[in-house]
Amino acid sequence: MSSPRVAIVTGGASGLGLAVAETLCRRDWRVHIFDINEAGGSAAAARLTRCVFHEVDVTAWHSLSSAFDAVFAAESQLDFVFANAGVMERGNFFERRDFSSPPPEPDELSIDANLKGVVKTSYLAQHYFRANTHDDRDCVLVMTSSIAGIYPQAITPLYAASKAGILNFMRSVAPIFHEQDKIRTYAICPGSVRTNLLAKELWDAYPQQYLTSMEKVLSIVESLAEGARFEDSKGKRFDKSVVGLAIEIFVDGVYFREPPDPCNEDMSNMASPIHPGSVMVA
Ligand SMILES: NC(=O)c1ccc[n+]([C@@H]2O[C@H](COP(=O)([O-])OP(=O)(O)OC[C@H]3O[C@@H](n4cnc5c(N)ncnc54)[C@H](O)[C@@H]3O)[C@@H](O)[C@H]2O)c1
Repeated sequence: MSSPRVAIVTGGASGLGLAVAETLCRRDWRVHIFDINEAGGSAAAARLTRCVFHEVDVTAWHSLSSAFDAVFAAESQLDFVFANAGVMERGNFFERRDFSSPPPEPDELSIDANLKGVVKTSYLAQHYFRANTHDDRDCVLVMTSSIAGIYPQAITPLYAASKAGILNFMRSVAPIFHEQDKIRTYAICPGSVRTNLLAKELWDAYPQQYLTSMEKVLSIVESLAEGARFEDSKGKRFDKSVVGLAIEIFVDGVYFREPPDPCNEDMSNMASPIHPGSVMVA
């Protein structure tokens, strides 16, 4: 390829996002980190080569859209978007309250950042991918879901809802994104990776044998971005003709996860995800 490829990494000031930003910079990508953490993002950009930090709140449309616009104005190109910024659920959804007044509004930041932030980021990715004019473009969008998007998680139901929402959103947009604009779209569902998502005491108390390796998550994101072939732990093969894939990464295993089976043949005929004109499933 003639010019370096250009990536936007949301939540790139820490954890998975920072590790992906570092990996891409090492592989000569130009990387734009979008994060609300000004100190962490600036420090990362100062340390990495070809990396720029943008202070961005993914829950705020103007903040996010103007940063996408600034990146495209500077680069005239966008090849990869990692829609990854996220927060753990705050508050206790099950807390009992007295009956003298309505309970306070639940803290829905995990839905606003994790799900609605990914929706906004994906919408902007679609728009700026379309603006590309270089011939060799291979535009890739990877969303960060979680194993909490696959399995129910009673202690953090809003976080689980946000991550499950990402999976069905990804599976809904991926065929159209590919058909209309050749955008390859995926979701990763990592198990627990020791990052700043949780406090140190929680990580120390976590069963260490169930921690997922950062290296494994990184290798999957990198393979998706680069379109490199790999196999899951059951021998299913990925190459860049495959889109709409949800990938569970647990400890050091990798598992391609299919959407739920249709309940019967009628549903199988009716609920085709491919064409917007197919029958609506309410
Ligand atoms: N660490 C895990 O065990 C794990 C497992 C599965 C999924 N995930 C997901 O991975 C993603 C990255 O998390 P992490 O584990 O690296 O945690 P992290 O806390 O180390 O990194 C998250 C980053 O997102 C940024 N961020 C949060 N809200 C933001 C907002 N509104 N706008 C912009 N940036 C924002 C934070 O400042 C931080 O830099 C999250 O979506 C998380 O839910 C993490």
